[in-house]
Amino acid sequence: MRVLVIGAGGREAAIAWACRNHGHHVDLAVDLPAEFDEHTRPDVVIVGPEAALVAGVADRCAEQHIPCFGPTASLAKLESSKGFTRMLAGRLGLPSPAYHLASSADEALTWWREFGKPVVVKLDGLAAGKGVIVPHGDQETEAAIHELVAQGPIVLEELLTGPECSLMALCDGNVARPLPLAQDHKRIADGDAGANTGGMGAYAPAPIPYDPDELTATFIQPVLDYLMAEGAPYVGVLYAGLMLTADGPMLLEYNCRFGDPEAQAVLPLLTDDLAELALACCRGELGDRHIASAGAACTVVAASAGYPAAPLTGAAIDFGDETPDALLFRAGTDGAAVTGGRVLAVTGLGDTLADARAHAYRRMSTVQFDGMQVRRDIGWRAIGAQLTSYAAAGVDIDEGSRAVEQMKAAVERTHGSAVLRGVGSFGGVFSGAVIKAMDEPLLVASTDGVGTKVELAARLGKYRGVGADIVNHCIDDVLVQGARPLFFLDYIASSKLDADQVAEVVTGMAEACEAAGCALLGGETAEMPGVYAPGAFDIAGTLVGAVDRANLLPRGQLLAGDVLVGVASNGPHTNGYSLLRKLFEWLPMDATPAGFDCTLGEALLKSHRNYLPVLDTAITGGAVKALAHITGGGLPENLPRVLPGGIDAHVRLGSWPVPPLFRLVRDVAVGMPTRELYRTVNMGIGMVVVCAAADVAAVQAQIPEETWVIGELVAGTGVVQLLPAG
Ligand code: AMP
Ligand code: GLY
Repeated sequence: MRVLVIGAGGREAAIAWACRNHGHHVDLAVDLPAEFDEHTRPDVVIVGPEAALVAGVADRCAEQHIPCFGPTASLAKLESSKGFTRMLAGRLGLPSPAYHLASSADEALTWWREFGKPVVVKLDGLAAGKGVIVPHGDQETEAAIHELVAQGPIVLEELLTGPECSLMALCDGNVARPLPLAQDHKRIADGDAGANTGGMGAYAPAPIPYDPDELTATFIQPVLDYLMAEGAPYVGVLYAGLMLTADGPMLLEYNCRFGDPEAQAVLPLLTDDLAELALACCRGELGDRHIASAGAACTVVAASAGYPAAPLTGAAIDFGDETPDALLFRAGTDGAAVTGGRVLAVTGLGDTLADARAHAYRRMSTVQFDGMQVRRDIGWRAIGAQLTSYAAAGVDIDEGSRAVEQMKAAVERTHGSAVLRGVGSFGGVFSGAVIKAMDEPLLVASTDGVGTKVELAARLGKYRGVGADIVNHCIDDVLVQGARPLFFLDYIASSKLDADQVAEVVTGMAEACEAAGCALLGGETAEMPGVYAPGAFDIAGTLVGAVDRANLLPRGQLLAGDVLVGVASNGPHTNGYSLLRKLFEWLPMDATPAGFDCTLGEALLKSHRNYLPVLDTAITGGAVKALAHITGGGLPENLPRVLPGGIDAHVRLGSWPVPPLFRLVRDVAVGMPTRELYRTVNMGIGMVVVCAAADVAAVQAQIPEETWVIGELVAGTGVVQLLPAG
């Protein structure tokens, strides 16, 4: 087919592209030539701008018996007169704002004062997007009325609120078929701020909760039926500008043509042949065919400096490079020079709007001219339009409540009579009566996390153990001051809250608390998508314990000659996991390495021990001078925390049996110096008891499991020396 497209903007470039894409020959002209010869006579004319329609291009085509896709001049008044549109919509009962047509300021002001609500003031006639004022407040409204009524009759309309959408339908006089819904960006600046423009970008299909066929039945078909009955069939695009209000979609305006830049977004989505559809419309043969389209499109406009008030022309345009899945449509250009306000548009295509948007901006990033204005936010409302709940944004309050339900029983088992308020209250309430019995009660508090062990736990789907880890870590931290735990508060954060997983972690905490006679007094579960990586979680906790001042550890003086008694760890506890995860990156966690009695994963996830039960008798017995909890920093950095100045600790390597996991670590990390190794992991000792040499046998007897004399204190400068075995 030979197609003649009338117009010279971005919209017409998109119409031409769509026709050429289906193999048609396309000519472009700003106006209909006076005559054609047999070579130039088009099979169909497609009219772009409203001005050409108002000027009667369709009527002139009819005289020459050339099919024209676009309404006659008299029907184009659907767009050219807002008053006519409002009267027609009123007669047809289409959902519309309240309105009043006025030809004097007095009349307008009287109606508006009586109406008593905010209004939009519009010039009745065509004004190329400049005839609409959305005033803020009474003063601006009065000023707008005076300003526009000086130019001609005006329409006052009830101010509606909501997102807008562009419904464009192909019409054959009888029936209308919708194109994918589009959304335009009318303001010049990001965030829909600044002056109104012809449109700075668009995307389609717009993810709005209305069906295009139903919208067409409501807003387009009644107009076609009415005009048909009047003997004036409407052929061409009928475009309804809709506002999606809380009371449903409402009609803002009709246009008698494709939108610009909506056309640049919508037409590339068509898999059907536009030229053929246009001709079918001219012949009244659209019938019940559905218009086929696929994918998503995002169109970004580049406007010249000064647009829309006073566009600057003449700048040299660098059109950049072609990039995949993107089209460039020229508008206000002559060769490589800027001639108009909207200079060009790029359309990105993709399966999803996100892809389409990325492709559009990639193409636009290669375009350059002086003063170029490009909005960076095209499509921004589409994300919000698809969110119908907080859960859709990744935060599921209901799942949080479910987690609380599941953990409640385990938590409440830790509540003795001292707990007055626990789970579900704004803050836990714990009775201080238990410490009243002490002569001078001291409160000891500790906050900790379990570090990157949580990554391993998440990876292996084993959550309960890390719950115990955090509680026991804190218990051991207060135990080294001689304190017994009173209550614990936890914090769990994850990218996506899973009630079962949270309940597992908290149950692990509750079990550890229960075993230590500690109340799990409260906690917080946070769902933080976009902060934690998908699947990741973290836990932390705070424990408060008490000790009578007389029993505070360390007690007495630590002296040269005192002995170090090592108590076993049952794994790395909560330290060294960044090294361990790296070390075993390529070793499957379900492997059972030589010498192990469990899998590697099980060995790594063994929970931190609670040393209270094993050390209780020894501490109460009075011979324990000090305790050192072997956490981050290992033996070399935790022992000095209890050493007085002038005393060194000598630790004899080989004096305790290094468990298989730590032997494997030592064998694999061949390049790691011994001291570095002992600083990173505990190597099998989780707690060190310091006592006088004379008390060693008694202390060891008070500890109901095997312990080892691993070294002694000597005069020195407060450092730890690791003495080689033998
Ligand atoms: P129009 O040319 O009639 O589409 O108006 C241009 C723009 O003004 C519209 O896209 C809306 O953003 C805004 N507008 C027009 N009419 C109303 C209305 N009744 N309520 C709120 N905003 C409106
Ligand atoms: N982009 C709005 C219009 O073409 O009227």
